[in-house]
Amino acid sequence: MDVIVSLAKRRGFVFPSSEIYGGMAGFWDYGPLGVELKNNVKQAWWRHMVTLRDDVVGLDAAIIMHPRVWEASGHVAGFSDPMVDCRNCKLRFRVEDLKGPPAEIACPNCGQRGTLTEPRQFNLMFSTHVGPVAEDASVAYLRPETAQAMFVQFENVATTMRRKLPFGIAQIGRSFRNEITPGNFIFRDRELEQMEMEYFVHPREEDHWFRYWVDERHRWWTDTLGIDADNLRLRPHDPDELSHYSRQTTDIEYRFPIGWSELEGIADRTDFDLKAHAAGSGKRLAIFDEASGEHIVPYVIEPAAGVDRAVLTVLIDGYEEQQLEREKRVVLHIKPALAPIKVAVLPLLRNRPELVERAQRLAADLRPLVAAVYDDTASIGKLYRRQDEIGTPFCITVDVESLEDGAATIRERDTMTQERVGLEHMPQRVADLVAGRAAWEGVAREVAAAAE
Ligand code: GAP
Repeated sequence: MDVIVSLAKRRGFVFPSSEIYGGMAGFWDYGPLGVELKNNVKQAWWRHMVTLRDDVVGLDAAIIMHPRVWEASGHVAGFSDPMVDCRNCKLRFRVEDLKGPPAEIACPNCGQRGTLTEPRQFNLMFSTHVGPVAEDASVAYLRPETAQAMFVQFENVATTMRRKLPFGIAQIGRSFRNEITPGNFIFRDRELEQMEMEYFVHPREEDHWFRYWVDERHRWWTDTLGIDADNLRLRPHDPDELSHYSRQTTDIEYRFPIGWSELEGIADRTDFDLKAHAAGSGKRLAIFDEASGEHIVPYVIEPAAGVDRAVLTVLIDGYEEQQLEREKRVVLHIKPALAPIKVAVLPLLRNRPELVERAQRLAADLRPLVAAVYDDTASIGKLYRRQDEIGTPFCITVDVESLEDGAATIRERDTMTQERVGLEHMPQRVADLVAGRAAWEGVAREVAAAAE
């Protein structure tokens, strides 16, 4: 984990929030490369879950919702962790993290015995006040999950989009949890981003769709995000760890450096939420079922993933240190679609104006198609290493010959193999490679065929 944290900081993926003031636990800023990687992860999810399907539509709801939403959902009463305080050093601990009953053990921080309080429930929602007067009646909460907006807007979405079961509502957005023990870099944050989808089904199809979404989501992590299947596992929840709304939940876990931990949960929320909000609002939250000719309250299958954990997973899973003949190479093997920069254009000599001009023109031609950078601030070997470390799948070197033969050398990150490709065709060729419309091996074959 330390290696990843250091890479993330050094290369502008993730910085501690408000760092010049000492940072703030559980809050992080995504830097220039991090914001690109994060956007690419979210885009990959949205494309897979919404764009490519005709049964799922999107939503972008407000972070602050009516406070009664959180009463109906059960969060005001139940979204809490049992905590103890140390009367001596004043630190607070989750009971779950203690290595024994609070009455018997020493404080994990100051080591004093008999100083831990009885456990108390600590609600994890951040509260604020809406309007000019901070009084009890103006209390509102920052949402602790994006899910509730999909239940509350169920009727509006189903009606305006003329939906029949089964159908889903998807949302990506910020959530806030006053985690008592944030940590492990961006694994447990207080401000986080979630990618959640509520899939409304006929109650008798509950098990079918639950299994469907567990498989589908597992496949997304391996095939779309490129995570090694050996580092992923499915873990069904034991009955005693199920959330208050869930009949069955399976977590997709990743083998993090801190051990197997949750990346995403797929929960069968039954009709718990729609019924709770129907009771809370007095509105009927149901849908007409043509088969039975009746209005029914659908069941909900919910795949809920964390964006920050996805970014962390991509960084960890892609990271490799290779020992080359004379040096060490750090390389981030991430899918081209996820890479913050798709191609770097590097002039072999930066003191030859016509070379620099040709390379900059190529970078400008590439930019409308893919994220491209121009860099001449170091030797070519160093520039390659810099790009390898941030996962750039292709580097193009423009050399003296390029000015005569109108071609340049393109190098692929993982194999470090190189091919010579005509400058005119280069932008489209790179765009095809990045989008997966062409394979790297295919470029080599074409070049060989052209040479014959
Ligand atoms: N709507 C259901 C729900 O929110 P959850 O298991 O509490 O379920 C879903 O959260 C996902 O959100 C988790 O699998 C995790 O990836 C991410 N997540 C939850 N709490 C987080 C935190 N404090 N920091 C980062 N990610 C978090």
